[in-house]
Amino acid sequence: MTLRADGIAVTFERTRVLSGVDFEAHPGQVTAIVGPNGSGKTTLLRALTGEIAASGRITLDDIEVGPRRAAALAARRGVLPQATRLAFPFTVTEVVRLGHLAGPHADRPDIPARALARVGLRHKADRPYQDLSGGEQQRAQLARVLAQIWMPRGRHGANWLLLDEPVSSLDIGQQLSVMRLAHGFAAGGGGVVCVLHDLNLAAMFADAIVVMRQGGVAARGTPATVLTSAILSDVYACDIEVGCVPAPGVPFILPQAART
Ligand SMILES: Nc1ncnc2c1ncn2[C@@H]1O[C@H](COP(=O)(O)OP(=O)(O)O)[C@@H](O)[C@H]1O
Ligand SMILES: [Mg+2]
Repeated sequence: MTLRADGIAVTFERTRVLSGVDFEAHPGQVTAIVGPNGSGKTTLLRALTGEIAASGRITLDDIEVGPRRAAALAARRGVLPQATRLAFPFTVTEVVRLGHLAGPHADRPDIPARALARVGLRHKADRPYQDLSGGEQQRAQLARVLAQIWMPRGRHGANWLLLDEPVSSLDIGQQLSVMRLAHGFAAGGGGVVCVLHDLNLAAMFADAIVVMRQGGVAARGTPATVLTSAILSDVYACDIEVGCVPAPGVPFILPQAART
């Protein structure tokens, strides 16, 4: 019951973008992928979804991840890409239905509206998707993924959410709300893999963190072991201070404040 990749490599136009990456994520946990721009986070996530070809072996439970297993994979994992372009003038509900119809609960007509309510967008259900703000579009896309998967567990076992920067356009309240939703999905027995730029959100919500650097894994482990000043300052090539919130003992991350 794991999502795992063994020694995967990805090459685009003769440039090696990922090499020798081992990855493992477990149901019941939020696994965060962090790292600098261009370090390979999106490429790793797209390989894990089967969207792009990778050498090496990727499995979700007992399913070999790849285009030939698209239907089996769509029943148990939903994917939120980093950017989504729409070619047609869909309403918000129509966008959510695209996910709903691809998943195993297409016979439940209540789900799209409930998925929109989960992301706080029920009042926009009949609006043209193009008219939403960037953050609202991001939440509508999340509702699409939720409507596809809906439950953290299915008959076969755990379901999965694979999310590429799901909070990048959201205000701080919406960020927390989406991360709580991801955490709740994992608490219900599902698996969540989430690319995040905000290291403080990773500290608060991730059970496991994978730090990418130049197409490889620089560090992996719990927030407490990975989010250290030494590791982060090295990987992000700047001075980064790590403190600790006293009561829950969660690390917090601050860049050094010099402006020059
Ligand atoms: N389709 C592509 N063709 C060529 N190069 C790509 C393609 N996709 C990504 N890359 C390159 O791979 C590297 C990693 O990209 P990406 O995985 O998107 O990084 P991240 O998500 O960590 O910012 C970058 O240098 C990027 O330019
Ligand atoms: Mg990316």
